[in-house]
Amino acid sequence: MAVDVVRDGHVATITLNRPDVLNAFNTAQLEALRDALTEVRQDPAVRAIILTGAGERAFAAGADIAEMRDKSPREALAFAQLGHAVCSLLETAPQPTIAAINGFALGGGCEVALACDIRICSENAQLGQPEVTLGIPPGWGGTQRLARVIGRAAAKELILTGRRIGAEEALRRGLVSAVYPLAELLPKARELADRIAANAPIAVRYAKEAINRGTESDLETALAYEAQIFALAFDTLDQKEGMGAFLERRKPTFTGA
Ligand code: COA
Repeated sequence: MAVDVVRDGHVATITLNRPDVLNAFNTAQLEALRDALTEVRQDPAVRAIILTGAGERAFAAGADIAEMRDKSPREALAFAQLGHAVCSLLETAPQPTIAAINGFALGGGCEVALACDIRICSENAQLGQPEVTLGIPPGWGGTQRLARVIGRAAAKELILTGRRIGAEEALRRGLVSAVYPLAELLPKARELADRIAANAPIAVRYAKEAINRGTESDLETALAYEAQIFALAFDTLDQKEGMGAFLERRKPTFTGA
């Protein structure tokens, strides 16, 4: 399978699985990722999603250049729109998404990671948007999400040069939030996922939505939205459970209701 999905407890791990080409995305793999995300997003038992790459060399080394080379503009548009749809599924998933970047995350690989809520990487990771070195600009959100994550000037420098950066520079620029030895990367991603999964799912979803929507709105609109979802949370059983557990000095058990 081009994409493997493993559910364990409240965590789903999706693995991009074309290691012979460093998990480069062809259309079939992108469609498989779209279908896997569509299914996992709807599963109320899944409270966090980890996305990673098979093998020890790559998260994903970009879109499949062999497949892309002969595309017409019309086909390229469809490919960009499919990439955007996948990134949007990650970004708007009710569950938080964690990119565990285990090596190269280039071009489309970097863009898919950018659509995740949290990015952590291994010491051997290399990230970048090398599209201009191939005669194209980034097409799966890189020009927008990279600028939003690391700032316009830094994004322009990386995208316009096409240079790759290592794990330490990615950390310094805020492109990833932590760097681990390769063997520790997935256990650390799992720790993060378990921590998130132990929290109230509706509150987690509302918080993610408020950050996503609010940072794309003016402050007044964003704060009004925050007040609304804050109020809505008081209509959940998990709010009663969380506060009740605190006052009774016990651990809460959240059901997502
Ligand atoms: N599309 C298609 N195939 C790719 C690929 C991509 N984006 N990235 C790597 N591969 C393939 C290589 O063609 C090679 O296949 P082969 O063994 O059949 O020849 C295999 O993956 C291993 O890659 P290779 O280039 O031999 O490894 P390397 O260690 O020398 O270099 C990279 C690794 C990532 C630096 C290099 O593969 C690369 O630059 N890839 C393209 C990155 C890119 O520009 N991505 C953006 C696309 S828009």
